[in-house]
Amino acid sequence: MERTLAILKPDCVRRKLVGSSINFIEENGFTIRSMKIVQMDRKEAEGFYAVHLGKLFFDGLIQFMTSGPCVPMVLEKENAVQAFRNCIGSTDPSKAAEGTLRHMYASSVQENIIHGSDSEENAKKEIAFFFPTVEIIE
Ligand code: RTP
Ligand code: MG
Repeated sequence: MERTLAILKPDCVRRKLVGSSINFIEENGFTIRSMKIVQMDRKEAEGFYAVHLGKLFFDGLIQFMTSGPCVPMVLEKENAVQAFRNCIGSTDPSKAAEGTLRHMYASSVQENIIHGSDSEENAKKEIAFFFPTVEIIE
């Protein structure tokens, strides 16, 4: 079964939307295979978002992702990567479809409450970034 990496971002934790987000994720058929709460430092966040290095929003993104704890989790479902991207909606919440998590809760393009891997290849890398194999439930 396919897996993807989700992160409930620092705004999600600050606004106490962790429970509601997890409800939504489970109601949409995803199984949580691992989960924790972490505070990323600058180096870790830069490593995770290395593909965006050099973009105009990079510094703001790193500042935001290190502004408080976030909740990475491994989710499993048929076609998990694409299915999860569909559930969270567009990066810009004003363009996110109704019924998506970002449409419901996100406040801006940057503070958009959740991350989802964008390909199977990146999902594997991102899961390995946060979780050693022994921490993922089979
Ligand atoms: P994510 O990686 O977090 O799931 O988001 P995404 O694929 O929908 O968007 P991506 O292009 O990968 O951007 C990563 C995160 O950077 C912040 N961002 N800010 N101010 C801006 O124009 C801007 N653009 C992107 C967002 O937090 C976005 O989720
Ligand atoms: Mg992305």
